[in-house]
Amino acid sequence: MTEKANILVIDDDEAIRDSCSQVFKKEGYSAKTAKDGTEGLKLFKKEFFHAVLLDLKLPDLDGMEILSRIEEENPETPVIIITGFATIESAVEAMKRGASDYLAKPFSPEQLRVITKKVLESRKNFFENIYLREELEKKSEFDMVIGKSMEMDKVLDIVRRVSSSESTVLITGESGTGKELIAREIHNHSPRKNAPFVVVDCGALVETLFESELFGHVKGSFTGAYETKHGRFEVANGGTIFLDEISIMSLNIQANLLRVIQEREITRIGSTKPIKVDVRILAATNENLADLVRKGKFREDLFYRLSVVPVRLPSLRERKEDILLLVEHFLQKYGRRARKKINSLSSAIKKALMEYDWPGNIRELENTIERAVVLSKGDEIELEDLVYHGISSSSSLFHLAGGKYKNLEDIEKEYIKTVLKAQNGNKSRTAKILSIDRKTLMAKIKKYKIQ
Ligand SMILES: Nc1ncnc2c1ncn2[C@@H]1O[C@H](COP(=O)(O)OP(=O)(O)OP(=O)(O)O)[C@@H](O)[C@H]1O
Ligand SMILES: [Mg+2]
Repeated sequence: MTEKANILVIDDDEAIRDSCSQVFKKEGYSAKTAKDGTEGLKLFKKEFFHAVLLDLKLPDLDGMEILSRIEEENPETPVIIITGFATIESAVEAMKRGASDYLAKPFSPEQLRVITKKVLESRKNFFENIYLREELEKKSEFDMVIGKSMEMDKVLDIVRRVSSSESTVLITGESGTGKELIAREIHNHSPRKNAPFVVVDCGALVETLFESELFGHVKGSFTGAYETKHGRFEVANGGTIFLDEISIMSLNIQANLLRVIQEREITRIGSTKPIKVDVRILAATNENLADLVRKGKFREDLFYRLSVVPVRLPSLRERKEDILLLVEHFLQKYGRRARKKINSLSSAIKKALMEYDWPGNIRELENTIERAVVLSKGDEIELEDLVYHGISSSSSLFHLAGGKYKNLEDIEKEYIKTVLKAQNGNKSRTAKILSIDRKTLMAKIKKYKIQ
């Protein structure tokens, strides 16, 4: 849902201030005015504005100075310069320094309306461009699917076969098993690869917002809908939409989604006009949808529509032979990022990594390696660098690097730190767990200088 645009007018001419706010209010925007630069900047610091109208000639501050302060704080905020005919040159100068456009006095309400609409639009493009840039940066050579196990072979075989088709694919698997990566892989190998791949996290928004997020809304369809918004289905047109955490969708939205899949068209909230969309649907969940169908929490007809081709991602526990491959892959990825050339791991470390259960699957493995690379002193990863959940074997608790034993105080200190951290710093709970009173705990915290 888009908020109502809030616009700031900085001008010492009262007539201009009044007429501008009138025009804006009529457009459904809200407007604030300031009679000089000081007041303007004060307002700008306090409130969020979607655009600023700025007179370059103000009684107190230089307009250029104000422009650069606005640019500094909110580079995406468009600034429209108001100028007299005599000073158009300085308006052009201001545009070189980042202003979006200018209005020469006297101007008509229509001119003001058109130019404001235009810059508000460009503000949106600014964010869209960021989104596109991020997407480009995300695509790196490291986004490949790693895995040589039989289980992954089966998955990749299905991926290869469904990529070229238009089928809806339901990807299931525990958290962190690579559902999103596989969805991207399918898209990137499909005929739609040059069109958008739009991710929708079904768990992220409350129902009313979610519906508008998916299908869009028309201006005025509810309070705050000050302009028409395109839903994710429209953004994904020609490409692929990835509905993540599909199990969280309410029954009401499930019904709407079913209609979209059947009719291949959407209707924006507040409109009755259907819009054709050509979108391939991929969905993912870490829950058992068939179970939810039995419990009446998920529509059976939608379930069948979505799981035309089901792909189940194995947990890391089921394909331990991939662990070291993945470790090597992430060592390179994060080693390059940290500009460290990490030596290959000792067999003790490899053993610890292989023996661990990885409840958080590949995401947990990736985080563990990233952390170890960052923590490593030099090019060697020590068992201590892997301390994370249950991975490190008990020996790292007792030994210093090089195999020497720790003394009791070191171990006490470390243990207190671990419990404190696990209890989010809550000292009463920590004391209780350690079976000492709070005062004793406080004394030890002080003695060991624990933060
Ligand atoms: N087979 C793989 N090879 C390389 N990297 C992988 C593989 N599978 C997953 N990853 C990486 O692990 C991380 C988690 O993967 P992803 O986000 O796709 O998991 P997910 O199943 O969607 O998790 P969640 O259920 O928590 O949303 C990502 O950084 C992804 O690149
Ligand atoms: Mg995911």
